[in-house]
Amino acid sequence: MIPRIYIPGDSGALALGAEKVAKAIAGELAERGIEAKIVRNGSRGAYFLEPMVEVATANGRVAYGPVKPSDVKSLFDGGFLTGGHHKRWLGTPDKIPFLAKQTRLTFARCGVTDPLSLESYKKHGGLNGLTNALALTPADIVAQVTESGLRGRGGAGFPTGIKWKTVLDTAGDRKYIVCNADEGDSGTFADRMIMEGDPFVLIEGMTIAGIATGATKGFVYVRSEYPHAVAVMNKAVEVARKAGVLGASVLGSPYAFDMEIRVGAGAYVCGEETALLDSLEGKRGMVRAKPPLPAHKGLFGKPTVINNVISLASVPVIMDKGAAFYKDFGMGRSRGTIPIQIAGNVKYAGLFEAAFGMTLGEIIDDIGGGTATGRPVKAVQVGGPLGAYFPRALFDTPFDYEAFAAKDGLIGHAGIVVFDDTADMLKQARFAMEFCAIESCGKCTPCRIGSTRGVETIDRIVAGIEPEKNLALVTDLCNTMKFGSLCALGGFTPYPVMSSITHFPDDFKPAPVRVAAE
Ligand SMILES: Cc1cc2nc3c(=O)[nH]c(=O)nc-3n(C[C@H](O)[C@H](O)[C@H](O)COP(=O)(O)O)c2cc1C
Ligand code: SF4
Repeated sequence: MIPRIYIPGDSGALALGAEKVAKAIAGELAERGIEAKIVRNGSRGAYFLEPMVEVATANGRVAYGPVKPSDVKSLFDGGFLTGGHHKRWLGTPDKIPFLAKQTRLTFARCGVTDPLSLESYKKHGGLNGLTNALALTPADIVAQVTESGLRGRGGAGFPTGIKWKTVLDTAGDRKYIVCNADEGDSGTFADRMIMEGDPFVLIEGMTIAGIATGATKGFVYVRSEYPHAVAVMNKAVEVARKAGVLGASVLGSPYAFDMEIRVGAGAYVCGEETALLDSLEGKRGMVRAKPPLPAHKGLFGKPTVINNVISLASVPVIMDKGAAFYKDFGMGRSRGTIPIQIAGNVKYAGLFEAAFGMTLGEIIDDIGGGTATGRPVKAVQVGGPLGAYFPRALFDTPFDYEAFAAKDGLIGHAGIVVFDDTADMLKQARFAMEFCAIESCGKCTPCRIGSTRGVETIDRIVAGIEPEKNLALVTDLCNTMKFGSLCALGGFTPYPVMSSITHFPDDFKPAPVRVAAE
């Protein structure tokens, strides 16, 4: 059998040098006259070990990482094609602690299979969910998704089954499935990883959504900063179409479903579902007032399901293993698993899929290993730029939508950015207001004007001008933005601002006191 070598083509791994490693391995193979198959797989998400190269041996896969081009010669000398020992040797990938501790349902194949091989996809359970769905009525599919407890992974945590039911129950000569792959939150990369590492799972999830709701056309709206994901998705759609997974007769059934990949021009607000629809229609991305809901009048005025990549990519495993299986994971009203993205100043950065319920402390300290700088963790921002900053005192909060909301925080798209004790939370609060001012679509006053006034008021605190009065003004402004904004960009910017003020009051004291305190 020809040896198989897996080298990630994932853009995170590429950023860490995977392409150079691939070239060095191909060169070494040629020089030594060895015939081998190089598979460009996705990443398993342990980014601190990327580029992680794996070889398929008689005893299963053996991983090495992080591999540098300069390691390649010695890897061959040490017999890495048969799993030989080397300083980069990691052993069986599934036993690497960061990976072994996970519950991989949505990401089961990511980093394991050849992303563009439908055969490989099927061999690892792919298309089982779609096949099962085709044997059910649309209403039964929707009932399964509702029963699983799946909630939207894009940020709002809205029950996916209820959204699908609204579209199923709404009459329309044309309906659409829109996949939100704008992934604008800081520290997030789960959508990108799935699109690059297991694109068929998204195609399968969207096709099931189409069959369940009566939609025959799907669009994936991908941010322009993801060229690799766009390329992989486009190729995967072609492969799926040729194989009859997409097209006039999905897997030979009476159902039609096809899809296209569209690239956004780059605006955080275009991740908001209605601004996304405007952008997809070729207009400037502006938030639409609701009602009407997109489920009633969405893309081109037709009933539309808009779901995040991970929401849709979680559907195949639900339809394969059953709603009860999926629902069994998690806590409270947060069911199933969530791909937590650990980023920022952290030792073990990467994607960690786990059932809801781990505490923030377990995620940061046990899984993430604390800060990369080795200094104490001061704050973690959970849920993107609109998420709250949590201090260590809140590290006992379980990863659960309601538990985070009870502490004035949000899970969002499950991105966590870690900061050490050198972080200045006043600067972070200012940044939140500035971000909102830059990214605001401008439709409503609290966000458009409020964010700019917020930056100015915080600057006055920095300059020591009536700090107490201006701090009260920021608080007042946050209340206006929270309750008066049309969408969550203006409405949630108060979370990072107010959590900074509440949990890190020393950082908002006038400069001389702050210096004295330090
Ligand atoms: C400013 C803003 C940006 C957003 N960005 C994204 C995004 O990048 N990706 C995403 O899936 N949802 C994003 N959302 C949430 C979407 O509006 C919407 O709730 C989501 O796409 C619905 O899918 P889900 O139910 O599967 O989560 C954003 C919301 C706001 C207010
Ligand atoms: S809150 Fe901001 S982004 Fe949202 S509609 Fe208003 S101006 Fe636009």
